[in-house]
Amino acid sequence: MMLITGATGNVGREAMRLLGDRAVGLSRATPLGTVAHVEGVLYSPRAATPERLAWAAERGAKRVVVLSAATVSHPVGDPRFIAEFTAAEAAARRSGLEWTILRSTDYAANALAWAPQLRRGGVVRGAYPGAVTSTVDERDVAAVAVRALLDPAHAGRTYLLTGPQPLTQAEKVRELGRATGREPAFAEITPEQARQGMLAAGLPAEIPDRLLGSLADYARAPGPSSTTVAELLGRPARTFGEWADDHRAAFL
Ligand SMILES: NC(=O)c1ccc[n+]([C@@H]2O[C@H](COP(=O)([O-])OP(=O)(O)OC[C@H]3O[C@@H](n4cnc5c(N)ncnc54)[C@H](OP(=O)(O)O)[C@@H]3O)[C@@H](O)[C@H]2O)c1
Repeated sequence: MMLITGATGNVGREAMRLLGDRAVGLSRATPLGTVAHVEGVLYSPRAATPERLAWAAERGAKRVVVLSAATVSHPVGDPRFIAEFTAAEAAARRSGLEWTILRSTDYAANALAWAPQLRRGGVVRGAYPGAVTSTVDERDVAAVAVRALLDPAHAGRTYLLTGPQPLTQAEKVRELGRATGREPAFAEITPEQARQGMLAAGLPAEIPDRLLGSLADYARAPGPSSTTVAELLGRPARTFGEWADDHRAAFL
């Protein structure tokens, strides 16, 4: 049985779907004691802990796949957040299990944060419209994670997972407009206005800290791109446009 931590998250949910009855999901609401034998663990740094990994190892786990971030090898933003991912990678390496590390760029699902503004009136207010990333589709991250859980050939490998196309934030908003048959605008505001807006919307201070630091760096120099998703899956990585088409209902 594969143990999927963060099973209600973007990647975890898709990994659960792909694995079907070969997986058991953990979230905060799921007690740990329900699994007798574990083969592998999908380690979501936000949801898992080294203790959970040790617990899985005691139940036979051979393999761990870590959902890390590109910022570990291509540092951007606040070092606090890089440290979180570095610590998760270190926990996997120390665990004694075979490990595979997936360092992803930003997930396409992060664009859902724009959904309320697009539904309301078609103007996205944000800082750094020119910040460039090769956003990866979280379904592709899950597909790679499942391969790495099932196939020992990926043991000891660290993969940089990105989407196929570098896009600015403003271009991503335009793609959402194309998918929904609208013409949304990206209205630039200052980073401080963006921070205040997020705090006023009730988000914890961690979110603007995490986001705005990275965007400032990606406005200076584009984030990394790789062809690893296509190489590992044997088909092209999904584009942001495909993600937008598949999620258009969330923006209408
Ligand atoms: N978003 C990105 O751009 C990006 C890029 C690279 C790496 N990552 C990393 O990839 C991982 C998966 O991201 P995602 O977007 O699929 O996940 P997500 O949607 O953020 O979901 C988080 C999952 O973690 C659980 N969780 C949240 N806080 C928790 C806590 N304090 N204790 C235990 N469980 C908790 C949630 O479970 P409940 O149902 O209990 O709430 C949920 O299943 C994360 O660790 C993230 O840091 C994200």
